[in-house]
Amino acid sequence: MAIDLKWLGHGTWLINSGEHSILLDPFLDDSPTAPVKAADINATHILVSHGHFDHVADVAPIANRTGATVVAIYEIAEWFSNQHKVENTLGMNLGGTIQLPFGSVKMTPALHSSQLPDGSYGGAPAGFLLTLNGSRIYFACDTALFSDMQLIGKEGIDLAVLPIGDHFTMGPEDSLTAIKLISPKQVAPAHYNTWPPIEQDGAAWAKRVQEETTAIPHVLTPGDTIQL
Ligand code: NI
Ligand code: MN
Repeated sequence: MAIDLKWLGHGTWLINSGEHSILLDPFLDDSPTAPVKAADINATHILVSHGHFDHVADVAPIANRTGATVVAIYEIAEWFSNQHKVENTLGMNLGGTIQLPFGSVKMTPALHSSQLPDGSYGGAPAGFLLTLNGSRIYFACDTALFSDMQLIGKEGIDLAVLPIGDHFTMGPEDSLTAIKLISPKQVAPAHYNTWPPIEQDGAAWAKRVQEETTAIPHVLTPGDTIQL
């Protein structure tokens, strides 16, 4: 069974695996680059990496319309439940793995910040390691480079999704170091070209990935899909 990963711009991904649709960090209606609106999305699960508006903006409307289960760090799961009346939430924390109908989700550390839009404490920022159909996909989400990415790589990563926008996360240079630490088979960039402060040259990045690492780079346009 194939897994389709569609980039919806910025840090937003829609992963389709069989009858499951897993949405990561939905930022659609206010995103300058998203190819779809929140009303167009059907999801069974929504993963939330941290509390910033460009990751949580469309979570509640989609969850409340579709009944999707929101998976996030405990503080953010509680916030959606209490402040936005999201019915199905699943709070977890760093280092934990949960089994869901489509596979497993491990919450990995991220080096970033995480305040919710109303000023509430969002707990620690996170990334996700997904195991679906035997494939391992690592979403670093918003993070700086950190050397423990090497430990995440030891799990055997088929696809790593890394931020390259710089300014709010690591940039292209540090992403190359991250790829060397993680040693994924394939890599895709995210969290760039949404606004001027995070403009980057995806083609130049991909050329360097090919020259300096063993990973196969996938530079996507919002709306494009990677199949695993
Ligand atoms: Ni952020
Ligand atoms: Mn962000």
